[in-house]
Amino acid sequence: MADGMIGINLTRHIYEKQKEHPEATGELTGILNQIAFAAKIVSREVNKAGLVEILGLTGKENVQGEEVQKLDDFANEIFVNTLGRSGHFCIMATEEEVDTIPIPEGYKCGYYSIALDPLDGSSNIDVNVNIGTIFAVHRKITGEEKGTAEDLMQPGRNLIAGGYVVYGSSTMLVMSTGNGVHGFTLDPSVGEFLESHPDIKIPVKGKIYSINEGNYPYWSEGVRQYIDHIKEKDKATGRPYSTRYIGSMVADVHRTLLKGGIFMYPADNKDPRKPHGKLRLLYECAPMAFLCEHAGGAASTGTGPVLDVQPTELHQRVPFFAGSAQDVRELEEFIVKYD
Ligand code: AHG
Ligand code: MN
Ligand code: MN
Repeated sequence: MADGMIGINLTRHIYEKQKEHPEATGELTGILNQIAFAAKIVSREVNKAGLVEILGLTGKENVQGEEVQKLDDFANEIFVNTLGRSGHFCIMATEEEVDTIPIPEGYKCGYYSIALDPLDGSSNIDVNVNIGTIFAVHRKITGEEKGTAEDLMQPGRNLIAGGYVVYGSSTMLVMSTGNGVHGFTLDPSVGEFLESHPDIKIPVKGKIYSINEGNYPYWSEGVRQYIDHIKEKDKATGRPYSTRYIGSMVADVHRTLLKGGIFMYPADNKDPRKPHGKLRLLYECAPMAFLCEHAGGAASTGTGPVLDVQPTELHQRVPFFAGSAQDVRELEEFIVKYD
């Protein structure tokens, strides 16, 4: 880009894209700008986390039975307050709240619902490793002014927007409104997200696998056989693959979108309370699957597309295998063969 030329910012990108989709209301622009605004505030806090009293635990546990970090709470507050008062949504849900979150009294209800993981990768907060926010936006499908859980618990196939913010060496917003996947990098000097990764496409086959190998003894036979297979030496098929595991879903999926390969969080029998793995459908797996498919990749529960799962509970978990189409397909073949 020529010096002095400011790139396409988020607003202009959506406007350009929407010209191809006149049916999409201008609200999408407003929705994504509000998400970007909240992300800038969280980014500022994340980037000085080591300096102010924002690290560490709150001493509380969330609905998942997990320790709540101060930054989890901070990010949850920022996104819920900003989006709840934006006039775009009829109901919200986040990882940190047991039940659905209504729009505050006195504020307009809109025609969309949003589910959020306000701070993904909490275990990495105190060690200065990439963390993120994940969002999933559906159109309202119920008739009353105030939305219900039904507006949130739609299959990922219905998503009208999905994406994440990754707070790392730079802060990036990666999103799709169903028309390709696009990455924007925050330029703090102008406070704008500028398009830096137009039309991201996942390579059809990768050379990286990403999984928490510590759970190996708890996986199904099919998953274990697949992992053993990609570690065998076979130059013709590019094996063994390299392994990369950051432990923040946003960071592992971001790398997979850009470099290809396969990210996995299988079901495991380690914790009887979590028979379907650790990752939540509504605000982790569905939006990430939406991005992977729109980037030309695939996202599977091991037995079918994540986007086709009809949610039955707000915080339900599903097994998650996503990335290069050929790698995900091969994993599914191992599950069919051995499980
Ligand atoms: P969150 O911090 O929102 O609870 O999400 C953490 C998730 C996800 O980011 C990551 O992929 C996974 O936890 C890592 O889990 P393990 O530590 O069990 O590998
Ligand atoms: Mn998460
Ligand atoms: Mn989280």
